[in-house]
Amino acid sequence: MLYLGVDLGTSSMKVLLVDQTGKVCKTASRSYPLEFPQPGWSQQNPDDWWNALCQCIPELLDGEDTSQIAGLAVGGQMHGLVVLDKNDAVIRPAILWNDGRTAKETEKLNNDFGKERLLSLTGNIAFAGFTAPKLLWMKEHEPQLFSRIRKIMLPKDYLVYRLTGVHSCDLSDASGMLLLDVKNRCWSQEMLRYCGISEEQMPRLYESYEPVGTVLPSIAASLGLSPDTVVAAGAGDNAASAVGTQTVGDCACNISLGTSGTVFISSKEFRLPPEGNLHAFAHADGSYHLMGCILSAASAYGWWSRDILRADSDAQEQDCIHDDQLGRNPVFFLPYLMGERSPHNDPSARGAFLGMSMDTSRAQMTQAVMEGVAFAIRDSVEIARSLGIQVTSSGLCGGGAKSLLWRKIMANVLNMEIQVPLLEEGAGYGAAVLAMVACRAFDSVQQACEKLHSERTIYQPDPLIAARYEERYQVFRTLYPTLRNLYPALSLAAL
Ligand code: XUL
Repeated sequence: MLYLGVDLGTSSMKVLLVDQTGKVCKTASRSYPLEFPQPGWSQQNPDDWWNALCQCIPELLDGEDTSQIAGLAVGGQMHGLVVLDKNDAVIRPAILWNDGRTAKETEKLNNDFGKERLLSLTGNIAFAGFTAPKLLWMKEHEPQLFSRIRKIMLPKDYLVYRLTGVHSCDLSDASGMLLLDVKNRCWSQEMLRYCGISEEQMPRLYESYEPVGTVLPSIAASLGLSPDTVVAAGAGDNAASAVGTQTVGDCACNISLGTSGTVFISSKEFRLPPEGNLHAFAHADGSYHLMGCILSAASAYGWWSRDILRADSDAQEQDCIHDDQLGRNPVFFLPYLMGERSPHNDPSARGAFLGMSMDTSRAQMTQAVMEGVAFAIRDSVEIARSLGIQVTSSGLCGGGAKSLLWRKIMANVLNMEIQVPLLEEGAGYGAAVLAMVACRAFDSVQQACEKLHSERTIYQPDPLIAARYEERYQVFRTLYPTLRNLYPALSLAAL
């Protein structure tokens, strides 16, 4: 049998056709626009996602025996607020995970409602990108639209709804709404009340690998699928990627260098980081995970190389950076181009280069961007280590993991073994695995991960380079606290 795995990303969608042995037979992708209507805001039109899916699926099915497609699932960008009215029409553009408009609502949740209460109800504190602060923002700034809301969902759930007619949400993605009692895997009535919504407005909760339904006959006919095609609940993109890289069981770690950068640590038991500075979420395998998220990772490199340098190729920019320069760069870069989530929780933070002189080169600044992302990722790894979690090796995936230089920088900045899967297809691959489990090709996500284990290339840190990076990281950690008080004054909104 064959399965479709959809990665609903921030800049594009990628759909994979995967067979039961885990082989990726074909892929199709489409990009869609991202709107930044005001500095720090980030929105997308849910119909663009649906249109992309309606183009990718027929392209993939062309020439295939479609009766062989048993199931599909979506791994999607997390936290985005999608609101539907009584006719299930989209009320406003989706407010995305990297949108920073909710600074006030986030502060109110953390300070007035209180971090302790949030942690005990949801396992998490409020971050600007999470869904609950967005609902509070809508209630305050768009009360008429807010009053029309009949269903609230996350980006991938909109696609599942269009495919099946069912309003669903899986537990890994629901964890990032700040409306879920993560430990007990149910909606928190107190959080729903505080945000002015009722449980009827929320989608039904599923484990990621559970079937939600089958494709509606009219949609199946237009996409070329059988109406018996099973749609699994799917997962947030990080949990889906973790399944795709076999990051399951206790204390397995995966780092993703995508638009955002994440450190994902699987955990059999629910663990509550005392300060809430790592997210405590449900995993797509039925257990839990901890996660740190930086808002600009590969996107910071893309901004630097494409928008600023107008570089012809990444290889050309990176090939001149040799091992003897690693850990010896006088230039630092803070990658907070969209504000920052983990660990600073500061939507007003912004990017910065520091340490340049008249002889600073283009290559040093490129290197600083890659190192700045690695240092920011290390901030989250350090929090996990301070909780007593032994993180001694990690998978590395996402667009940034394609760079040999970045792999080396990550291994040495984190001073641990980095494993890069030979074939890495991100959240879409994990989603296909979830579809296989929903169709009972495997008994559990854990079993699927054992059977589909992929080859990896291993990168070990070099003790000399790692020691040099240790010193540079100790300087990096002092930079944000030094600059923090300046950020609000930098904003043009203050003029
Ligand atoms: C995770 C997060 C991002 C998005 C990117 O908390 O906000 O990784 O899921 O798609």
